[in-house]
Amino acid sequence: LDEKIWLTLSFGIIMIFMLITGYQAFALEMGPPSHNEILDPQKVDETAPFDEPGIKQIGEKEYEVVMTLQVFSFTPMELEIPAGSTVHFTLTSKDVVHGFQVANTNINAMVMPGHIQKISQKFSEPGEYLVLCNEYCGAGHQLMSTTITVK
Ligand code: CUA
Repeated sequence: LDEKIWLTLSFGIIMIFMLITGYQAFALEMGPPSHNEILDPQKVDETAPFDEPGIKQIGEKEYEVVMTLQVFSFTPMELEIPAGSTVHFTLTSKDVVHGFQVANTNINAMVMPGHIQKISQKFSEPGEYLVLCNEYCGAGHQLMSTTITVK
């Protein structure tokens, strides 16, 4: 009898784990709603705000970064902000699906052509933050990186 209880218990636990994992995969699949703004990927250069990519101060220790991703670079290439700043990124891709991952932060996003991706992040610690494309985007994918300098 004891053995049966143990078997039932462990089976139950496995089922619960599978349900949790399944739910998490489902929730991730749905993604954040910020994926849903749509623009014409052929006309990124002519579409605000992407007609003027760059960094803009919008408040005390608050910045807005408009960035395009394309094989195999980020525009603008270099970013510098004071420590303690919050940065609001507005991103899109001009060609294929790219990734936007910033080391030592929680930023890890997909940037898709035709979609606007918005992410906000506070950079408290000074340092050089490595920015990587983490979606395979072609022959130069592994070269696609830049840095955010926090001073
Ligand atoms: Cu862009 Cu990989």
